[in-house]
Amino acid sequence: MIPTSDEIKAMWKMMADLYARKIEKNNLPLAISLSSMLQLCEEKPSKILEVGSGSGSLSRYLAQNLDYECNITAVDISDEMITIAKSLFTKYPFLPNVKVSYEVANSEELTNIPDESIDAYLSALCLHLTSDPKKMLQELKRVLKKGKRFGLSVAGPEENVTFASTLSSVFKELEEEIPKLKSPKIMRSPFYLGKKEDLIKLVEEAGLEVGYCWVQSGPLNILTFEDYESLVLKSPGLVKMMETLTEEEHKKFMEAIKKRLYDKFIDIKNPLVVEAVQLIGKKP
Ligand SMILES: C[S@@+](CC[C@H](N)C(=O)[O-])C[C@H]1O[C@@H](n2cnc3c(N)ncnc32)[C@H](O)[C@@H]1O
Repeated sequence: MIPTSDEIKAMWKMMADLYARKIEKNNLPLAISLSSMLQLCEEKPSKILEVGSGSGSLSRYLAQNLDYECNITAVDISDEMITIAKSLFTKYPFLPNVKVSYEVANSEELTNIPDESIDAYLSALCLHLTSDPKKMLQELKRVLKKGKRFGLSVAGPEENVTFASTLSSVFKELEEEIPKLKSPKIMRSPFYLGKKEDLIKLVEEAGLEVGYCWVQSGPLNILTFEDYESLVLKSPGLVKMMETLTEEEHKKFMEAIKKRLYDKFIDIKNPLVVEAVQLIGKKP
């Protein structure tokens, strides 16, 4: 099942606080690479649009690093994310030449952004979450000026996003014993675009030119089982699911996660990682 825009909004309303406090900093290095591949300081695009900006870590980074006059508009479908981003923006000093504004908007209907008005478009880890990625790409194409660059990234594949695959392997391992852990497979996987060839095809079919596409991973600052608990197991969907388990089932589930984390990561000094397929291109 494909999530509707309302379901996506509701999901990110629940996730906003946890994502902003614990997760976004882990994804920032990937977003910085994407922005650096767009050569912003060299090309000096004056109107930059960031879509699916989350709680704003990339826009804050850009506002401390772009050394020329420019405007960044950062949009997100979640009001909560935009509220957090606005509040965080008041806490730090930024370069006076960079103006940043935050707005609530759906990547598939950027109604406040006129046609061909944007000089650089950036969207980190959002295309795979939006209901219809083709619509999002059509909007990208509509708002971007001809000959200008864009950068996009998606999560995946799942087996390389080890904080998530750890969880799915434990679900699999225990699903006979605890049938509630059997995934009902009703929602589209967030990793469904996580193959370089698939992403390139999707972008080219939208009539956009692909420049480079690469796979990039980064470590997650989950150093202990307690970190995993507070960063991954506290996501609202999981908390809900865990509430349905009996005490015994809950204990088994937690022990299995702990064992897997120690065996596959902590004991062998391997950090958990997040992986993204990143792509830069141009509107012809
Ligand atoms: C995984 S987070 C990525 C946030 C940030 N770009 C980063 O790299 O950490 C995904 C973000 O995309 C937003 N999002 C999902 N679907 C969206 C849509 N259709 N339009 C705008 N934002 C959307 C979510 O609200 C969330 O803040």
